[in-house]
Amino acid sequence: MNYKIAVLAGDGIGPEIVDQAIKVLKAVGKKFNHSFEFTEAKVGACAIDAVGNPFPDETFELCMASDAVLFGAIGDPKYDNDPKAKVRPEQGLLAMRKKLGLYANIRPVTTFPSLLHKSPLRKDLVEGADFVVVRELTGGIYFGEPRGRSEDGTKAYDTCTYTREEVQRITKLGFEYAAKRNKRLTVVDKANVLATSRLWRETVQEMVPEHPDIAVDFMFVDNAAMQIIQWPKKFDVMVTENMFGDILSDEASVITGSLGLLPSASVGIHTSVFEPIHGSYPQAAGKDIANPIATVLSAAMMLELAFDLTEEAKAIRDVVDKSMTAGMVTEDIAEGKAYKTSQVGDWLAEHL
Ligand code: IPM
Ligand code: MG
Repeated sequence: MNYKIAVLAGDGIGPEIVDQAIKVLKAVGKKFNHSFEFTEAKVGACAIDAVGNPFPDETFELCMASDAVLFGAIGDPKYDNDPKAKVRPEQGLLAMRKKLGLYANIRPVTTFPSLLHKSPLRKDLVEGADFVVVRELTGGIYFGEPRGRSEDGTKAYDTCTYTREEVQRITKLGFEYAAKRNKRLTVVDKANVLATSRLWRETVQEMVPEHPDIAVDFMFVDNAAMQIIQWPKKFDVMVTENMFGDILSDEASVITGSLGLLPSASVGIHTSVFEPIHGSYPQAAGKDIANPIATVLSAAMMLELAFDLTEEAKAIRDVVDKSMTAGMVTEDIAEGKAYKTSQVGDWLAEHL
């Protein structure tokens, strides 16, 4: 088969980590007889610099015409301390999510035995933790209207909005993941305070009887933040709204001790996007030291979710495990000698 992949490397370390995933995908293509066609487009700060728009129309059209999107990272420190900037790289990411209808962000949280000692948690707490955060991605306070500033500039407001349909479609996906896994779904909200959360709870409660084989529990977000570090093994699938999911999925990723290793998928109405969950790590940009594994594993998620190539995805995961056992790793996780980003990519492609 021939698969068209849009490559949106973005900013910071984006280009160098995406390059490694491309090497690995090419090796998969060779081994399993598929052809992957890669076309690049700009997103984020580099797109602002080039054309003044963090998600140019041309990039959108390429995404729409592709079978999947491989995404690197966006963000540039020059915008972080400039709250007055008129356009920001993050707007490119949000525009992409909205325009592609990517209403679900799937973040699997898995541990790697060789990295457990890097976890901020005790080994016995985190060993074997394995859950998926299903985050709503195109609604809530990220996109609600009205938003803005009062005329005199002394007051600002954001609006959190959800409709029943939005809650239903993301929850449906949560149930599907739970059905494929250990049949437990935790719904995270703040129904003791927020109207949108009460709508979530009510809507999910209506769906529960249709899924008698799934054990559903409801948890307030503050409690969930606590439980993730107290007893991460209790979770199987967690479904939650946009901002809670943003915060909790970062928290969840860090307990594994391997932030540089976790992939994600954003799926919905149009072309799905696959990206590492870490950011653009500007301090390392161009130095060939960033860990490419999260992006390589995102490519594995792409093969599985977008192309239904499970065996090929497994081949990527296996070679990643092998590289870690062999100590072919970048400096962030190396115990002894550290290898360059590009060396890890070459090794993976060769040993696949
Ligand atoms: C993420 C990021 C984004 C978000 C930022 C960069 C806008 O933190 O993908 O989790 O908040 O959604
Ligand atoms: Mg985030």
